[in-house]
Parts: sequence; structure tokens; C-alpha cells
Amino acid sequence: MREYIVEMNHIVKSFGEVRAVRNGEFTLRKGEVHSLIGENGTGKSTMMKLLYGMYPIDSGEIIINGEKIEKLDPKSAIAHGVGMVHQEFMLVNDLTVLENVILGFEPKKGLTIDFEKARKDIQHFIDRYQMDIQLDKKVSQISVGEAQRVEIIKTLMRGVDIIILDEPTAVLTPQETRKLFEILANLKAEGKSLVFISHKLNEVMEISDRISVMRQGQYMGTVDKDKTSPLELTKMMIGREVFLNIDKTYSKVGGKVLEVKDIWVSSLKETSKIRGMSLHVNEGEIVGIAGIDGNGQSELIEAITGLRKVEKGSVILNGQDITNKKPRAIRETGLAHIPENRNTRGLNHTMSIEDNLIAVEIDKEPYTKGIMMNVDASSKYAEEMVKQFDIRPTDYKLPTSALSGGNAQKVVVAREVSMNKKLLIASQPTRGVDIGAIETIRNTLEIAKKKGTGVLLVSAELEEIISLSDRIIVIHEGRITGELAANEANENNLGLLMMGGEDELEKGETES
Ligand SMILES: Nc1ncnc2c1ncn2[C@@H]1O[C@H](COP(=O)(O)OP(=O)(O)OP(=O)(O)O)[C@@H](O)[C@H]1O
Ligand SMILES: [Mg+2]
Repeated sequence: MREYIVEMNHIVKSFGEVRAVRNGEFTLRKGEVHSLIGENGTGKSTMMKLLYGMYPIDSGEIIINGEKIEKLDPKSAIAHGVGMVHQEFMLVNDLTVLENVILGFEPKKGLTIDFEKARKDIQHFIDRYQMDIQLDKKVSQISVGEAQRVEIIKTLMRGVDIIILDEPTAVLTPQETRKLFEILANLKAEGKSLVFISHKLNEVMEISDRISVMRQGQYMGTVDKDKTSPLELTKMMIGREVFLNIDKTYSKVGGKVLEVKDIWVSSLKETSKIRGMSLHVNEGEIVGIAGIDGNGQSELIEAITGLRKVEKGSVILNGQDITNKKPRAIRETGLAHIPENRNTRGLNHTMSIEDNLIAVEIDKEPYTKGIMMNVDASSKYAEEMVKQFDIRPTDYKLPTSALSGGNAQKVVVAREVSMNKKLLIASQPTRGVDIGAIETIRNTLEIAKKKGTGVLLVSAELEEIISLSDRIIVIHEGRITGELAANEANENNLGLLMMGGEDELEKGETES
């Protein structure tokens, strides 16, 4: 038997001026989990999209099962047994899960789609991998964890035995990640080969057999999991060590910038309905919201930012009642917002990096004077942001669609933080960014706080909440179950409150 079922040798790939992959090397063994790691924009997604036939390679060779493949597109990649679960979800929101899974591969009965057969086929996979998926829900109604499982089912249904997972855990809660890892272990046990891309070294160390590192389009080497350490991997990725410790300053907190008073908000999901929540954020402090995803955090943020109706109660920003005002009016009252989903709410991918950076301020000075756009001011600002946040590539005239996932995230963060508003809502601010960028973004939030901004931070990473926040508010099923000062908080007491607190647990025990 051949040692490798996939070999990618001396791969080169450019997009216009941008050399995405200079010298890419990658091999895959049958039945292994091979992780691909490296900084943002280093060519990981590109390498795997080449293997999946999404773009042609400029030079080099791709060998699958011993056969050198001359022409590859997603259809033929699937025929060769290669499937890919993408970094940015590609599901259609208005369709049901079932419709999404069969999209493009509908089983036909005569001229009509055979939904009965489709349902049976899919159910077979759902049972086999013990996935928790509701086929008749619309995609807009399911959690990101479930959407991730849908993407995996979709790929498995194509009958592939090589599965590429591009940052599958970036959007998952720790609980959902556990579930995903069980599914991956099952797949591996069946002899499937998995490629896993992630910025989370603890995950990489947990599930990999081998790990390959890329740096700026260049292959840096492959190591056995058992013979390496996170420290060595970090050095291979960046060439230095990174310490994610924030020197937290307890600055003087000022008056209230945000007051949420007993709000009630409805939601399609039972656990996400907000049932009477009150909280406040002061000037110069970071308040973290901890909770298991789907317990009302998105609804809370949408209610504050004007994207969802507040049924009862009120929201006060900078002393003004902004309850149920239009999002734009709320922004102008003093709100900046890093949204949880950069693709639907954060960026307009048809516009350039520069225009995205100034998008919300485009009709104000200094970018517009009278009716004239001030082109110099805007370019100068874009240049500064690109430098400060290390956005790569640095050509700010490129559309954001040309950016890697992590670099796109940096654009959103740069724009919102630099507006210097009174209140900054940061939802999952470091989602999908590499360890160096996590350091930059976390320090930026700390600096904003020192300047007097009140920050409301929502993050699925408990460690991030603990290390950044001054106060932590824990929510469960749309209610606040506790509040802790950051120096009293740890994963245990937060975890307990996230499950509903002691009362809930006792209730659960007597019930069962
Ligand atoms: N369709 C495209 N058009 C132009 N440039 C692109 C395109 N796709 C990727 N690039 C560029 O290629 C480089 C590598 O991007 P890639 O998406 O492979 O990075 P990555 O390692 O996956 O990063 P991340 O961790 O942020 O997802 C980046 O500089 C990116 O801007
Ligand atoms: Mg990527």
C-alpha cells in the first residue's frame, strides 16, 4: 500500500498580486487526523481549496490515491473521495436543513425530488454518527453548532473518505466542540482521513496524529503530535513565543453608559427568550457575558443594538432612551458593535478594505467635506488601520472578499474600536484570528477601556471572558444567574452558573 492517499508537492498559487501559497507541501495518510496550522492569511484555506478543486494550482502537483490529477474541480474532487467543510458556512438560510443537505444532489423520482428517499438517506447518517440535527427546521432557526453538523452531514452524504474541516470549532462552544470531536473520532475509526484546520492549539494537540505548519505561504514542516508541544508549534508558526496575559488595569470607572432595565425579548428558540434581564455597563470597564451559546446572548445584543424588538422594559444609552430605536439612530447615540457574524452584519464584501473601514462614518468629516469625499483622509486612515491591526495583505484597495477569515475579522474590529464610541459591544471579537492577532485585539479592548469606553464583551471562550473582564455576568435561559468580580471567577463557579446555578441543579436532581 502507498504511504499517502494525498500528496501535494511544490504547490504555488497566486491571486493577482497576492502570493497565497509560495511553496505548499502536504501529505495525508489513510485513517489519520492531520492538522494544518499557521497565522491568519498564511495559505491554509487556499491549500485545502486547491485540494478540493475550487481553484486551479499555478504549479506543483496533486496526487490522490497514487494518481496525479491534472484537472480538478469540486465535482471531480468528490469523485476522487475528497470533501470539504468550509470556514464560512455556505448554507441557505431560507431553506430547511433537509433541502440544504440535498441541494445540488437531489435524488429524483421522475422529474420531482424524492424527499422520502432523501430523508431516509440522511437519517441513516444522522443515526450512524449520532448527530443532533433537526431536518425540518429552517437554517435561520438552528444554532451555529447544529449548522456545523449539517455541513458535515452534507459532506459525508457525498460518500467521501477524505474530509477537510476548515476551522470547524471557531464558532462552537466547548460543549459543541466535544460533540464534534466524538463525531470525528467515529469517522477516524471507520478509516476516514481528516484534515483539521484550527487556531486552537489545545484542540490540535488533542485530536491530531500529525501537524503541519505554514508561515506566509510557505510550508514549515510536519511533526508527530506525540513529539511536539504547543510551545514548539507556536515558534514554528510565528518565530517567537506569545503570551496571552493581559496586564489588566483597574481603571476608575465612571458613570453608566448602558443600562438595560428588566427587558423581555422573544425568540424562536425557547432557551433564548429573554425573561426579565437588567444590567449596566460603566465608563471604563469591561463587562463580560458568560453563558452557553443559545441562552439569550445574541438576543440581548440584538435588543440593545436595535435589531430585535424589546417587548417590555427599556434600554438607556448615554442617558437617552434608545428602546426599539433604529440601529442607525442607536449607533449615533454612541454605540460601536463588533457583530458575531462578520459576513452577514460586519462587512460588505463587494467593497474595498478601505471603504469597509470607514463604512459607517462615510458621510461624516473628515471623510466627507460638504458634498466632496475627502479621498486622502480616508486612505490615510485605512493605511493606519492596516498597520495597527496587521491586516494582510496591506493593499487596502482590495475587496474584503479577498481576505482570509482572520484578516476579515481584523477589519471589523479595527473599524469599530477606532470609532471611540462610549459603548463598545464586542461579540466573539477574536473568532477565527490567530494567536498574534488575539493578542492585538485583546490589548485594543484594554486600551479602549482605559480611554473610558464601556465594553460589553460576549465570548464563547471562558478564558477570554475571565482574562479581559472586570465584572462577569452569567446568563442561563434568558435570565441572569449570577454576577462575579473577575478576580473571584473561575471555570468552575462560572460553569455552575452557566448551567443555571445551584437551584437549577438541585431541581434537576430531584426531578430525575
Ligand atoms: N479569492 C481570493 N482572492 C484574492 N486573494 C485571496 C483569495 N483567497 C485568499 N486570498 C489571499 O491569499 C492569502 C491566503 O489566504 P487563506 O485564506 O488561505 O489564509 P488562511 O491561512 O486560511 O488564513 P485564516 O486563518 O485567516 O483563515 C491571503 O493573503 C488572502 O488574502
Ligand atoms: Mg482560512
